[in-house]
Amino acid sequence: MNRLFKTLTCPKCGREYPINELQNRCVCGAPLLAYIRVENINDPLDMIVSEDDSLWRYRKLLPINDENNRVTLGEGMTPLKHEVELGAVLGLDNLLLKDEGVNPTGSFKDRGMTVAITRAKELGVTKVSLPSAGNAGVAAAAYANAAGIECSVFIPDDTPSSFSESCREHGANVTLVKGTISDAGRAMSEQLDESWFDLSTLKEPYRVEGKKTMGYELAEQLDWKLPDVILYPTGGGTGLIGMWKAFDEMEKLGWIGSERPKMVSVQSEGCAPIVKAFHEGKDFAEPWENAKTNALGLRVPSAIGDFLMLEALRESEGTAIAVSEDEIIDGIRLVEKHTDLSPAPEGGAAVIGVKKLVENQFLKGSESVLLFITGSKEKYSELY
Ligand SMILES: Cc1ncc(COP(=O)(O)O)c(C=O)c1O
Ligand SMILES: [Zn+2]
Repeated sequence: MNRLFKTLTCPKCGREYPINELQNRCVCGAPLLAYIRVENINDPLDMIVSEDDSLWRYRKLLPINDENNRVTLGEGMTPLKHEVELGAVLGLDNLLLKDEGVNPTGSFKDRGMTVAITRAKELGVTKVSLPSAGNAGVAAAAYANAAGIECSVFIPDDTPSSFSESCREHGANVTLVKGTISDAGRAMSEQLDESWFDLSTLKEPYRVEGKKTMGYELAEQLDWKLPDVILYPTGGGTGLIGMWKAFDEMEKLGWIGSERPKMVSVQSEGCAPIVKAFHEGKDFAEPWENAKTNALGLRVPSAIGDFLMLEALRESEGTAIAVSEDEIIDGIRLVEKHTDLSPAPEGGAAVIGVKKLVENQFLKGSESVLLFITGSKEKYSELY
């Protein structure tokens, strides 16, 4: 194991677990995280393998046994662009967009899967399964296929067929389930035995490690000066939680100081458990009844990392905001009109989050605002 990592730790109850054994959740039900212990690193920037154009340039900060085991399709190091025209339309001098749609399977989910599948392979896993809103299933299928691991994906039956087709093209089994990703998760545990390793969001410790590279990357791309505000369309929350973890690690490494961007979660009005819990001052979110949104990645009624998201939003003095389905469509069109990108609806939601937060003066025109376009629109064409 990379010497920076010693154990897996529960952020809720503090229990520790051996890092070189397969682990899912803590016995208390919370996710397990791999915290780094930084000692005696003379020149931390030597920790970056700068000739590598993928997120594996940060491999020395990832909890793996051997870099030669990595299962990679060239993910990460996605473009970070100043969008002057869209910024002007939204009333911001300094708007930045990070385009995750260029990842190998079209979304930021590839980041999590490259690390999770690498680690699963290192630990001898031969079969993985997960419930997915769509993009994570496609990413899991692609990386499992590259690793020679069998993959079974459970997705809601109203997900556009392009997602299940894409999973099958990568050799995965697909089971369609009536309801949301939560129902898909329940069907998975009823139908599969324990020989299938559970890759569900935050129910294994390594997808979030892949996602944390978004935090390293944006810092490196901005010459180690973080933006004032980051908006992220939020479902299960690994994007937000991963970046928040990366900022802590970068501070330990001396790459950045103690200042943090305000973190903002954007959800759909049809499924906004984190927004509700944030504004009610709660530490945990209640499951959302009758979750409904075409921004499929945001249709997550209940997330086991809820307390970690809420902590990051509060500690950073950020906020959480919900947008309507019509606004999500407006958001997609706005990005298409004023940039070169064609965002997935989750990105469309995030743009409207910016618009509304400028209107209510949470955001000031002079602040630097980074918005994640978490995926491309292509697979959603049945819906948009
Ligand atoms: C395109 C897209 N954006 C955002 C999200 C939400 O990400 P997270 O579950 O990490 O909060 C998803 C999740 O499926 C997604 O597919
Ligand atoms: Zn615990």
